[in-house]
Amino acid sequence: MATKTEQELAVPVGVTLDRFIMHSQSAFPYATGELSQLLRDIALAGKIINREINRAGLIDIVGGNGTENVQGENQQKLDIIANIRFIRALKNGGEVCAILSEEEEDIIHTGNNHGKYVVAMDPLDGSSNIDVNVSIGSIFSIYRRVTPINGPASISDFLQGGRKQIAAGYIIYGSSTMLVYSTGDGVNGFTFDHSLGEFILSHKNIGTPSHGSIYSVNEGHYHSYPKFVQKYIEQCKSKSFSARYIGSLVGDFHRNMLKGGIYLYPSTNKDPKGKLRLLYECYPLAFIAEKSGGKAHDGFGSILDIVPQSFHQRSPIYIGSADLVDDVVTG
Ligand code: AHG
Ligand code: MN
Ligand code: MN
Repeated sequence: MATKTEQELAVPVGVTLDRFIMHSQSAFPYATGELSQLLRDIALAGKIINREINRAGLIDIVGGNGTENVQGENQQKLDIIANIRFIRALKNGGEVCAILSEEEEDIIHTGNNHGKYVVAMDPLDGSSNIDVNVSIGSIFSIYRRVTPINGPASISDFLQGGRKQIAAGYIIYGSSTMLVYSTGDGVNGFTFDHSLGEFILSHKNIGTPSHGSIYSVNEGHYHSYPKFVQKYIEQCKSKSFSARYIGSLVGDFHRNMLKGGIYLYPSTNKDPKGKLRLLYECYPLAFIAEKSGGKAHDGFGSILDIVPQSFHQRSPIYIGSADLVDDVVTG
């Protein structure tokens, strides 16, 4: 019988996401198909959010909502819409018993207590770019629940640690819309074909360059960064690296993964623990980074090895090409 890798090699660029998922599942004879269905639910939410984003300027859903989320950040109308769309798609799908969202303080019980999975998500990443037509994204992280099936999910299902993710990925709403995900065995990217309404395999088995010459950091905060980060930024300049920072983690990460580069969000005076959220920003992108051959570090060790304490905790992050991440953390 063909091994999984052989089977996946047999899937050519140009197949639909559905077919790709079917192929991948067929390599596991005992798979029940629930994870496959969950990935389809996420893709559906992505298509719906993509539609809302594309017509946002026409139907008065740009701009602030006049509310704050649990982190005390202003919510944009599209943050709330994306949150609702994701929750609805995951509830309807039935495979997920609980959801953790950037936009909600506590976990959301879907009512599907038989569901084997929990999902942590940033429904819309890069909010400040919504109104100005710059790339934004959605990020997701999937765990198999550890609480007994048919009972309620609990905090322990979400605080398993980054290495326990069974799948993670993101949707980027950019010059094209792409879904990028990994179930632990390679990273694949699917470009949305609007005319077909389908995600099509376009970036097969993505491998990130081990080196690169792009650095992405909000240099406006330079003076409140730790010394080793300041030193690294000076090194990047002395090597004439290209500075590229759009302020959407998904967009900056995606570019650097394909081209080779590093994204840095260190601790600052204002955010001593960093700004980005561990469970639904850092862990899933660290998973994708490692599965594509890159690295993700918090200055002490791999992001995936951080022991999580709470739903919305933050972490500094240095993520991207392996050599560059090594350079910044080894000083
Ligand atoms: P979100 O829109 O989900 O709150 O995330 C915003 C994050 C991230 O996407 C981005 O890289 C970073 O905030 C930008 O922060 P600064 O404006 O401080 O550079
Ligand atoms: Mn975000
Ligand atoms: Mn967000």
